Amino acid sequence: MRSILAIAIDSLWYILPAYIANMSPVIFGGGKPLDFNKKFVDGKRILGNHKTIKGFVAGVICGTAMGIAQGRVLQGILLSLGAMIGDIVGSFIKRRLNIEEGGPVPLLDQEGFLIFSILLTYPIENIGIYSVIFLLFLTPLLHKGTNVVAYYLKLKEVGH
Ligand code: CTP
Ligand code: MG
Repeated sequence: MRSILAIAIDSLWYILPAYIANMSPVIFGGGKPLDFNKKFVDGKRILGNHKTIKGFVAGVICGTAMGIAQGRVLQGILLSLGAMIGDIVGSFIKRRLNIEEGGPVPLLDQEGFLIFSILLTYPIENIGIYSVIFLLFLTPLLHKGTNVVAYYLKLKEVGH
């Protein structure tokens, strides 16, 4: 088995485009919602106001740019697309559960983008079970940290 440090470094290098993609909408997002204000069959919003077109596009562009910088173009695209799709799936579930935009759902909020990123990239890069476990543990901690920072920088309304 590889050392824990090697797993940690490999995992972080692997997931970096997804992390960048996930953070970018907070800075560059806003404007027209991805669901065009439309409601689902249950009468509630499909995704809500916090999932915007600009945010989605910014996430894919910034994440892919990170992938290009790493010399991992295809991974960059798949990881950022996965992150943005996972983010949307999370919001879709939250709206069905009657949770307001920005309302916290532990694990879903932090792991959704991660799981979709890994799944979408899996056909071209399998990081192995130890890396997946490492990222599942690390991501909620990092998420908490960056959210608190974003809150104090007044980028986010809620510091959870
Ligand atoms: N954001 C955006 N477009 C996206 C995703 C995110 O503009 N496609 C911005 C929004 O300003 C959002 C912020 O990034 O408020 C934080 O995103 P996130 O925490 O994923 O959304 P929530 O505010 O928690 O909304 P939801 O309850 O729908 O998850
Ligand atoms: Mg949130």
